[in-house]
Amino acid sequence: MPLFKKSNIKSENLPAHIAIIMDGNGRWAKKRGLSRNAGHQEGARTIRKIVESAYNIGIKYITLFAFSSENWSRPKEEVDELMRLCLDYLKNAEKETSDKDIRVRVIGNREGLSLEIREQIQKIEKRTENKKKMTMVIALNYGGRQDILQAASKLADDVAKGILKQEEITEEEFAKRLYTYDIPDPDLLIRTSGELRISNFLIWQCSYTEFYFSNVLWPDIKEKHLKEAIADYQKRSRRFGGL
Ligand code: IPE
Ligand code: IPE
Ligand code: MG
Repeated sequence: MPLFKKSNIKSENLPAHIAIIMDGNGRWAKKRGLSRNAGHQEGARTIRKIVESAYNIGIKYITLFAFSSENWSRPKEEVDELMRLCLDYLKNAEKETSDKDIRVRVIGNREGLSLEIREQIQKIEKRTENKKKMTMVIALNYGGRQDILQAASKLADDVAKGILKQEEITEEEFAKRLYTYDIPDPDLLIRTSGELRISNFLIWQCSYTEFYFSNVLWPDIKEKHLKEAIADYQKRSRRFGGL
């Protein structure tokens, strides 16, 4: 079977969708006597490298947790910097991915975001909508419970309007109303920095996802760590409740 050079990843059985909780920017900065914001800036550089690696490996979907619905509780100057970095990323995403076949999608509650960010999201989603090789999903102001709540609310609205009957409510109908309606469930979820929790990420979508935890802080993550996670995933047996 074909092998990737210098790694033990097999080209078949790749996870189609990798979701990443990019954690540890603050601790990375603290270790170096830098500001937390400097950690976020380095973290943004890591995103660019890892997206490129995932694309070259042949991953079809990559979802990056950029800002959670709970991250608003951080000090204002940190929230402001995170929003500035998100805006910067969205503005440059088209240019940076122009030589690549990458579609950009953003999930999360847009109402909480600035007009400028909302406009950039619309722009980049529209401009890349026909790209095919990989979809990069940015979770911005995203919370798993909020995702489920807004889907439940849409479902109730559709039942009230007669678009759907109550007895027609199925997992599929529910999933169609989640922010991830056009994205398959993650096969592999990676969390960096040694924390062993889901922190309200894709809680509906991860019901049968394989989890991989790394002690490496997000700004220190390299392609080899991504490949290690994929190689580990390929050794697992997914049973989905069966035998
Ligand atoms: C992840 O790094 C980035 C975001 C949550 C936006 P953190 O900022 O959570 O870094 P730590 O966990 O404090 O080290
Ligand atoms: C999860 O990390 C959110 C993102 C990576 C964007 P947090 O650092 O916010 O999670 P907790 O607070 O440690 O659970
Ligand atoms: Mg953290």
